[in-house]
Amino acid sequence: MRKALIAGNWKMHTTVVEACQLAADVAKTCSDYTDREVLLAPPYTVLSEVSHVINNTSIIIGSQNICWEGKGAFTGEISPVMVKDAGGSAAIVGHSERRHIFMETNELINRRVKGALAFGLMTILCIGETLDERDAEKTFVILEEQVRKGLADVDGADMDKIVIAYEPVWAIGTGKTASKEQAQEAHAFIRELIEQLYEKNIAEQTRILYGGSVKPGNVDELMAQTDIDGALVGGAALDADSFGRIINFE
Ligand code: 13P
Repeated sequence: MRKALIAGNWKMHTTVVEACQLAADVAKTCSDYTDREVLLAPPYTVLSEVSHVINNTSIIIGSQNICWEGKGAFTGEISPVMVKDAGGSAAIVGHSERRHIFMETNELINRRVKGALAFGLMTILCIGETLDERDAEKTFVILEEQVRKGLADVDGADMDKIVIAYEPVWAIGTGKTASKEQAQEAHAFIRELIEQLYEKNIAEQTRILYGGSVKPGNVDELMAQTDIDGALVGGAALDADSFGRIINFE
């Protein structure tokens, strides 16, 4: 049985005061779950403070990106050692904003994935097609390429730390959610691909999150899909009531 994972990606939002307030408010909406995990990915500048705020809860902290080295001359990057030092245990890698605004390639993202794993972080690998790619019926070609290249040289033994997040680019921040059928179809495809690349057991254990305009009003139907194991939430994660409702999906 896969434990659900509800992750809030705060992107480039929140000052220290705002972040601490939001984390405290989110913590109030959480119970002692046995069937789900909650993760917050705040900006680097508030990782430490947010970690302190949620210290006595089961909420996990992650970074929004990660470098593959523990330290060194990598201006502007954050290392897995730093994330762990700040109380984090996870990292988001390959978010579509990294791919499309900052031109991160599958090869670069693969280095990040392997780096995060080498330091024992839970690694959320984001994948997803653009609207043009979907319209050109290239969705599955793109997803396959992003999974294959993103997970290149990742050992089956490390797959328990990998989470895949399917985020169709056209659904991010647009208010357009993939229909539950579109999302389920993509998730089933990804799970089958993982089985091909690894084995059935690993495919069955790998959590695949959906992201892209997840809101209180659509989370229940998305989470009811066989292959949807959680959500990666942007906008709605910045409001504790909305995120609380998403965490407490039915
Ligand atoms: P929205 O929920 O704002 O569409 O963002 C999704 C996302 O990019 C999460 O990583």
